[in-house]
Formats: sequence, structure tokens, C-alpha cells
Amino acid sequence: MTSLALQTQDQMGGRLSVLTRQKKDHVRLDRLLNDLAVAPSGPAEDRVLREIARLVFPHAFAEESVLWPVMRRVLPDGEELTLQVEQEHQEVNELWTSLEELDADDPRREPLLDRLTRVLQEDVRDEEDELFPRLQERISERQLQALGLAWEIVRRISPTRPHPVVARRPPGNALAALPLTLTDRARDNLDRVAQRSERLRDPAERASAALARIAGRIEDLPIMRIGERASTSRAPGATAMAATNGGRA
Ligand SMILES: [Fe+2]
Ligand SMILES: [Fe+2]
Repeated sequence: MTSLALQTQDQMGGRLSVLTRQKKDHVRLDRLLNDLAVAPSGPAEDRVLREIARLVFPHAFAEESVLWPVMRRVLPDGEELTLQVEQEHQEVNELWTSLEELDADDPRREPLLDRLTRVLQEDVRDEEDELFPRLQERISERQLQALGLAWEIVRRISPTRPHPVVARRPPGNALAALPLTLTDRARDNLDRVAQRSERLRDPAERASAALARIAGRIEDLPIMRIGERASTSRAPGATAMAATNGGRA
């Protein structure tokens, strides 16, 4: 079993394989985390964080809905392995939500950013060193390519923001995908408008905040939590900071 970090594109099943696509995103994330480490707090740091969110949340959401169910089917210990990475994803969602509640000069930001970086790095290592090499032993190159296509399609239509209350597993996460993708991506567009136009900043920010409230109500629907495991669940309305303080060590 060889870590993806040490495999060539051919060994991973070629350009279309899910392994190649995953590693490409992980390399990009690594670069963005290096940028985050040196970015001064304020607009520069916010810009890097936005890029990380748009990479990480759809990436992880599509893993949870397309890849981990396959892992659970083909690996005898798939349940344990996928629960561990789901817990990492859950912690990223909770840390991010906490971060959004803090002002730019809040001293609690720094430790949150450090922890966020560490959990993201651990998630990549668990996937590249353990989960994906184990999957590779069980399924063919053609199947890796088919999974690559399925993951890519879902990734492109997945939410781009943290949603710690929805299930990390189907069917809850699948039900949440469409409405939350619409609200998240509409908010991404409004944020771009707010950044580019002084005149439209106010109405765009108000519309984005209204959509955030709608997304919050969608998240709180009990149906979005079906399939959730206890260790990755977070009660609606629980404060993000409280969830973080009790987060996985
Ligand atoms: Fe990944
Ligand atoms: Fe992941």
C-alpha cells in the first residue's frame, strides 16, 4: 500500500482517476494553507480563506456523498475509516462557523486558524496515506475513473460554505445539497458584487445576509440530519464556539 503522495499519475489510474483528481486538490490546498500562514490579517487573509472555502467545502461534500459510501461497501473496516474523516470534516465545518462569528482583531482567531490548518492537513494525510490506497487495492482502474467522474460532477454542484448541522452522510446530506448549493453559490456571487462595486456593496451584503438566514433555516430542518452518526452531529442552534471548545482533540 503506497501513499498517493508517492505515486505517479499513471500509478493512480491516469488523469481521470479519482485519486489523481483528489491529489491535485490536496496540492492546491497545501499551497493555499501556506499562503494563509503568511497572509496579514484583514482583506488579504479573508481572500485566502474564501479561496480555501470554495475549494474545501465542495471537495469534502462530494467525498461524503459519493466516495465514502463506496468505501463502506468495499472495505471491511470502511465504517470506522470513513467515520474518522467525517469527524475531521465536521470539525472543519464547526471551526469555520466559529471563525465567521469573530471580528478580524479578535484574539481567538489565531488559535482557530491554527487548529483549522492542522485538521485540514490531517484530513489530507488520512485520505492519501490510508483511505485511497486501501480503495485502490479493492477496485479497478476503470472504476477509479468512473468514481472520478461522479465525484467531479457532484463537487461542481455542492455547497461552498460550512454547514455543521446537516448530516455528513446520505440521505441527509444529499437532501441538503440542492437548496444549500443554491443559497451558497448565490451568496458567493453577491460577495463578488460587494467587493467590486462600492455603490452595490450595501444591498449586496444585505441580500447575502438574508440568504444566510434562509440557509440556516434549511439546515435546521430535521430531514437534513437523517443518516447522521452521533459523533458528527451538532444540534441546531448550538453556538459554534461552544461546539469548537468541545471539539475533537
Ligand atoms: Fe480529499
Ligand atoms: Fe476530506
